[in-house]
Amino acid sequence: MGENTAIRWVLFFFFPALFLYGLLHIYSSKPAQAKRTANLTAEEEAGRKVYNKFCVGCHGVNGDGQSEAAKFFKDKPPNFHTAVFRWKSTPEGCLPTDEDLMHVLNWGLLQTPMPSFKLVPEIQKKAVIAYIKTFAKEKWEKGQPDPEKCQSVYKNIKKPKDFGSPELVARGKELYAQNCTACHGEQGMGDGPLAMSLPVPPTDLTYPVRAAGPKPEDTFRVLTVGLEGSPMPAFGHLSERDRWALVSYIAYLMNKNK
Ligand code: HEC
Ligand code: HEC
Repeated sequence: MGENTAIRWVLFFFFPALFLYGLLHIYSSKPAQAKRTANLTAEEEAGRKVYNKFCVGCHGVNGDGQSEAAKFFKDKPPNFHTAVFRWKSTPEGCLPTDEDLMHVLNWGLLQTPMPSFKLVPEIQKKAVIAYIKTFAKEKWEKGQPDPEKCQSVYKNIKKPKDFGSPELVARGKELYAQNCTACHGEQGMGDGPLAMSLPVPPTDLTYPVRAAGPKPEDTFRVLTVGLEGSPMPAFGHLSERDRWALVSYIAYLMNKNK
């Protein structure tokens, strides 16, 4: 009788209990995500589908950048929950503009794993931008912390007529030697004395394309606001003319090896 009871116990109590435990385990890991996705607008829901098709493999189901693929990347995907963005035209502490996010999706971030989605229809890209904002809903609903300070630098950019002139390139070279060689190296190849100690490698500025975008204005933007959350500092304290001199010099470095 002792043996029978034991078998019955296993059949009628232990197995069902194990089964229930398994079910509970599966469902208990879902509520956080389910709660967040329950109240999505139609556009955000459309964006969730785009995200799960194109972005989830690198940026992770929860948008925190914790994906299997990311373990192999040197440039880590951002954590969308913090709403801190690196590739944007607004100063440190500000949210990016929608145009900034669209720019990243269209152009990609060359020299990093982030690809270009130029061929994906505009409406889908707008939807996925709406969706990634749901990862930090409160911050996006509050908006820019300081609307005056947080304006996009693109608004006021004016490329000088003598951009790329020998005088500007020479001035840029001088400023480069003072401000940039420690990280980017004497020849701009990303091999300065500080390079190995940085969490993100400095960009090889002689490479003919920029992650920030194809135009001199895009490089000017990086110099003005820096790249938040990376070692690349802002040089907004240099005069506008000096920043254009630096951009002229970088354009010269890029064309030298073409
Ligand atoms: C192959 C992997 C991969 C895929 C696919 C991918 N990303 Fe990325 N993404 C990255 C990495 C890595 C970075 C960080 C690059 C860096 O800053 O050096 C990044 C950066 C970004 C940034 C800029 C973050 C910042 O700090 O400014 C945005 C926005 C972004 N991704 C959105 C998306 C969206 C939306 C999709 C899908 C449509 C997507 N990504 C698909 C890997 C990927
Ligand atoms: C303390 C180190 C450091 C200093 C100093 C520094 N940089 Fe950088 N810079 C970096 C790093 C690191 C990156 C790459 C950031 C990333 O990928 O997230 C970078 C990125 C850039 C980019 C973006 C490239 C692209 O592909 O869009 C430009 C342009 C740039 N630096 C120019 C300069 C110039 C010009 C100076 C001097 C006026 C300078 N940097 C000074 C570390 C530095």
